[in-house]
Parts: sequence; C-alpha cells; structure tokens
Amino acid sequence: MQTSSIDHGNIITIERFILDEQRSHPEATGVLTYLLYDIALAGKVIASKTTRAGLAEILGRAGVTNIQGEDVMKLDQFADRTLISLNDHTGRIAVMASEEHPDIIPIPDKYPTGKYVLLFDPLDGSSNIDFNVGVGTIFSVYRRKSEDGPGKLEDCLQPGRNLVAAGYMLYGSSTMLVYTTGKGAHGFTYDPSVGEFLLSHPYIRIPDKPKFYSCNQGYEMYWSEGVQRYTHYLQGQDGLRKGLSMRYIGSLVGDFHRNLLGGGVFYYPADSQDSFKPHGKLRLLYEAAPLGFICEQAGGRATDGVTGILDIQPTSLHERVPFFVGNKELVDQAEAFIRQYDLKA
Ligand code: AHG
Ligand code: MN
Ligand code: MN
Repeated sequence: MQTSSIDHGNIITIERFILDEQRSHPEATGVLTYLLYDIALAGKVIASKTTRAGLAEILGRAGVTNIQGEDVMKLDQFADRTLISLNDHTGRIAVMASEEHPDIIPIPDKYPTGKYVLLFDPLDGSSNIDFNVGVGTIFSVYRRKSEDGPGKLEDCLQPGRNLVAAGYMLYGSSTMLVYTTGKGAHGFTYDPSVGEFLLSHPYIRIPDKPKFYSCNQGYEMYWSEGVQRYTHYLQGQDGLRKGLSMRYIGSLVGDFHRNLLGGGVFYYPADSQDSFKPHGKLRLLYEAAPLGFICEQAGGRATDGVTGILDIQPTSLHERVPFFVGNKELVDQAEAFIRQYDLKA
C-alpha cells in the first residue's frame, strides 16, 4: 500500500502554533488563545461562502447601505454576522465594533463579558465580489480599559500601540490568515482537505528591496503636490533609481498582502481639494491600525503622512485617515515629500 509521502511532523496547525506561542507567555490565561481560535473559525466559515459567492444567494446587493453610505453586499452582512455570532457569547469579549455598524456592538445581557475588545472590517474589498477579485477580513484585539460590566465606546477608541493582536484573512486563490500578537507576523494557508489553517509563512519579514507601489492612480489629480511628487519618485522619474511596478486591485487586504510578501508600499492619500475624501478613504480602527501593526511586526511601518498610524488616538469609531504602509524607507520617504511640499510653513 502506498504510504503517504507527507511528513506529518512538518504540519503545524494554527491552533498548535497559537498554543505554542501562549506557552512563551507564562502569565497567559489562554483566553486570547481561544479568541484567536474563534476568529480563525470565523475565517473558515466566511471562506466557505466566498468560494461560492458566484451563487445567486450570496452575490449582489443586499439592498441596504451602511454607515459609510455604501451598498452592503450580502457577503458583507454574512461575514459581519459570522464574526458577531461566533464571539458574542464566549465570555471573552467586553464589546465589539464593526465597520458595518454605526455604533459599538454590546454583548447581549444574557451572555458574560470578558476582558478583550474585538474590532473588525468583516469584508474588505467588497466592491470586488462581483468580479471574483480577492476580498478579506481584518481584525483587531485590544484589552478593555473600563473595569467591568458592559464594554464602552472608550474601550474601542484605543491607539494601535495598545493592540494585543491583529490580523487578516485573505479569501483569494487560496485562503490565508496572517496575524500577530506582537511576537512577529505569521501566515497560515487554509487546507480545505483537512479543514485547517496550516503554517506557511512563519515570521514574515517585508523584503528589503521593494518591488511594488500600490495606489489608485485615477485620483492622482486630487492629491497634494507632495504625494504627486512622491508618486513620480516611486516611478523613477528622477532618474536616480529604477521605478517600481504599479500593482493595485482595489482590495486593501490583497494589495497589502502582496507588498508585505513582495516588498513595496501601499497608499491611499487624502484629496487635497475640498473633495469627498479630505481624510482619505480608509478607516483608522478597522483597516489602518491593524495592518500598520502587522507591517511593523514584519519590519515595515505605517503613517498618515505626518504621524505614525499606531500613535494616532482615535476620536470616533469610523474616522478615516490617509494611509501609507509598507517598506520603512518608502514610508519615511512619503513623509519627507509631504513635509517638503505640503507642510511648508
Ligand atoms: P471596504 O470594502 O471594506 O469598504 O474596503 C474597500 C477599500 C479597500 O479595500 C481598498 O483599498 C479601497 O477601498 C479601494 O478604494 P478605491 O476603489 O477608491 O480605490
Ligand atoms: Mn475595508
Ligand atoms: Mn468592509
């Protein structure tokens, strides 16, 4: 009988990896470990739908609009409901907040509350669902600040520096989960045949030599002089260096993941005119802070063009920030162009 050629010794599931990580924190109670399991499970459930999104029951507008005034796709609602229902009763969470909900999501009175806060963008890149372009989920975990009882808005409005864990699922050609608890960023690839996320990218480091720049060049005319000049610098127009390749799919998680593994910078700047995006489009709590934390753990960094993303104190649940994230040198360079051309006194 043909024995399997797989070396089972090398298969590390996300559960085993998280548990091994927990062992290196003697003070750990295991609650965060179980919370990360719950999120990975939500990723599996959502992935099971995204790979069938072509079917009528999922595809197409859900007929509602969210706080951002955007059409909510059925998959957004499904992902949102999955994350809430897998976490609201576990006793690990004090309060949740979602990009799809105007206010905080309290834990129902019938369930116990816990010490963690879970924020998420349940489906990122949703405008791409109809076109079968990769979409994702982004999550952030904080410790509650309020003592006990129902979690509060203040528990959700914390700077990225306070993050306990952050990560994303990418429902692309394969489903991946990347997360960090502050001890490096680690990637797992979902193997549907065993129903597990298996370790595929331990200790991710953003390559020193960047390959890509990612932005919606269609809006270049709305950008500030500094950002326009920065873009020309990335294209090598100053003749001092070879230009980077432009890659942009309009799904933040997909664009971010490619640059994290391949090296590069993603940016969604503010419009300089009094346009509809004076602070850019991306949300500090649900997109910029968690991805900024992951990128920093991989040796990169993130800024709003002036301040490090993780140092920004949020003042509202849905505030938007200009977002530059990727190789440290390229992100520093963005700040230099903005300082030189946009902030001149
Ligand atoms: P979401 O689907 O969660 O609203 O996020 C969409 C965001 C982000 O994924 C992407 O980088 C950006 O929208 C693309 O915006 P443009 O279409 O304006 O380029
Ligand atoms: Mn998003
Ligand atoms: Mn979204």
